[in-house]
Order: sequence, then C-alpha cells, then structure tokens
Amino acid sequence: MSVIDIEDLSFAYDSDPVLENINLHVQKRDFLAIIGPNGGGKSTLLKLILGLLKSKKGTIKVFGKAPSKNLSLIGYVPQNTNVNTDFPIKVIEVVLMGHVGNKNPLFGYGKDEIACAMGALSQVGMQAFAQSKIGSLSGGQRQRVMIARALCAHPKVLILDEPTSSIDIKGQKEIYELLKLLNQSITIIVVSHDISVILEYANKAAHVNKQLSFHDISDKKKTFHTHDNTGHFCEIELLQMLGAVECSSCDASDTSTSSVTNTNNNSLSEPVEGKSKWRETK
Ligand SMILES: Nc1ncnc2c1ncn2[C@@H]1O[C@H](COP(=O)(O)OP(=O)(O)O)[C@@H](O)[C@H]1O
Ligand SMILES: [Mg+2]
Repeated sequence: MSVIDIEDLSFAYDSDPVLENINLHVQKRDFLAIIGPNGGGKSTLLKLILGLLKSKKGTIKVFGKAPSKNLSLIGYVPQNTNVNTDFPIKVIEVVLMGHVGNKNPLFGYGKDEIACAMGALSQVGMQAFAQSKIGSLSGGQRQRVMIARALCAHPKVLILDEPTSSIDIKGQKEIYELLKLLNQSITIIVVSHDISVILEYANKAAHVNKQLSFHDISDKKKTFHTHDNTGHFCEIELLQMLGAVECSSCDASDTSTSSVTNTNNNSLSEPVEGKSKWRETK
C-alpha cells in the first residue's frame, strides 16, 4: 500500500490558486525531498497531507485513508520550530508533548510515556540532554529534540518542513545523517533548500511551484558529475533535470565562467559559487 496518494489536487486560500493539479505517490521507505521557491506552496502541500487544510478539488490518501483518519501514523516537524527558545522548559518535557492523546502536563506523564520519550531521545542521540533547558541547546540539537518529539508517537512517515534552515553546516549534516538512519524503517518527506542534500540522501524529488514535477532520482544520481573532486554534485545539472531552472547562457557542464543570476530573487537554492546564469522555468 502507498504511504501517500495525491490525485488531481488543487488548493487556494482565497481566489488565487496556490496548488494546481498535484499528483504525488509516496511509497514505503521513500526519502522524498521537496524543493521549490519561497511561496511555491511546499508548506501548504504538507499541511494538506496532514489534514490541517482541506481542499475542494482532488483527493489525498494517507495509508489508504483520509489524512484525519491516519494522523497517528504521521510525525510532523513544522517550519521555524527554533523560535521561542527562551521558554523555560526541559528537553524531556518538549518530547513528552509529542504523545498522542494530549495528556495534561499538570497531571504528569506515566512511566511508559517517559520511557518512550527517553527512547525517542536516544534515537536522535540526545538522551544525555533530557534534563537540559531547551534554550541551552544549539539549533541542531533543538531540531533533533523536535524530531524526537515527532517520533514519540511511533509514526510510519516523518514529515519535516525545512528542518535545517537555521542550522550550521555541521548540524545540518547530522540532521540528514539522522534522517538517513530513520529512513531504514520510516518514510521521510523533507522540504529542503539544500539541493546537494537531495542527491546525497533522497531517492525521490518533487519541485513544487504551484504545480508539482516529480522525479525518481535513485538511478539518476550516478549520471551527474562532481566538481573538482570535491564530491559535490553539479547543482545546476540537478536543477535542470528537476525542471526547476533552465540555463540561459551556458552548457551545464561549464560552470566556470559566468555569474549566477537568480532572476526571481527567491531561494530555490543557494547559487553554486557564483558560476552559471540560471533562471526558474515556472
Ligand atoms: N494562511 C494563509 N492564508 C493565505 N495565504 C497563505 C497562507 N499561508 C500561505 N499562504 C500563501 O500561499 C502561498 C504558498 O505558501 P507556502 O505554502 O507557505 O509556500 P512555501 O512553503 O513553498 O514557501 C504563498 O503565496 C503564501 O503567501
Ligand atoms: Mg514553507
């Protein structure tokens, strides 16, 4: 059975369409990377999958049922969870909030729930910080705690919206390595602006900018060249393959001469070290 099936989905908050004719099928153990410009509809798509928003056109099935019927199978790490870090709360308390059933913390949690939360913290390598104040952690550590919170309910699919946007490079790498590990048993869907992450970790990629263009990249990874023996894949090539950009002035393999122009001034991806002229196709 598919994890997620979306057929002919369209959505608008008001009169302007935000998503149009979206079709997407996510299978068990997929690692799906969702990319696209700011305002392209990525977070909206996630909220539809989570049943937080309802569409008038098209269908969404999560494990064969309406999202609201299978919510307990989805773990969600929303965008911008790194705000409000001054709140005086311990790591273990943050994780305990992930328990389904929404117990009232005033009446305390049972032994089983605490054991489960500690288990989730150990899954993300943060058990030693259980009694630390959340505000004392680094951005990467806090994000791992948010992932532990989402893991508390033993989800079968974990959805993360830009989990590494305010995290340093080392912390980002640790988060993606953690997701790779979790992907051995859980389906991962992650919105990311980091294109090279897609090649390294994802087997599927979707570019969302009102419409969705889907790519199975599990085999295609081998076909991309790397620059200067750095091991980094050519992001321009990848973006072209995804249909996200077209190169306006040069061959994709020659990225050494001209400068990057992101004509839409959005953050689809960081430019590749000031090399090639590219622009969005949609
Ligand atoms: N709650 C909302 N009410 C009205 N418009 C919204 C709301 N949330 C997002 N939008 C609009 O929907 C579009 C898609 O937003 P979003 O899904 O957040 O994009 P992304 O996550 O790709 O940056 C944007 O034009 C945004 O302004
Ligand atoms: Mg977003």
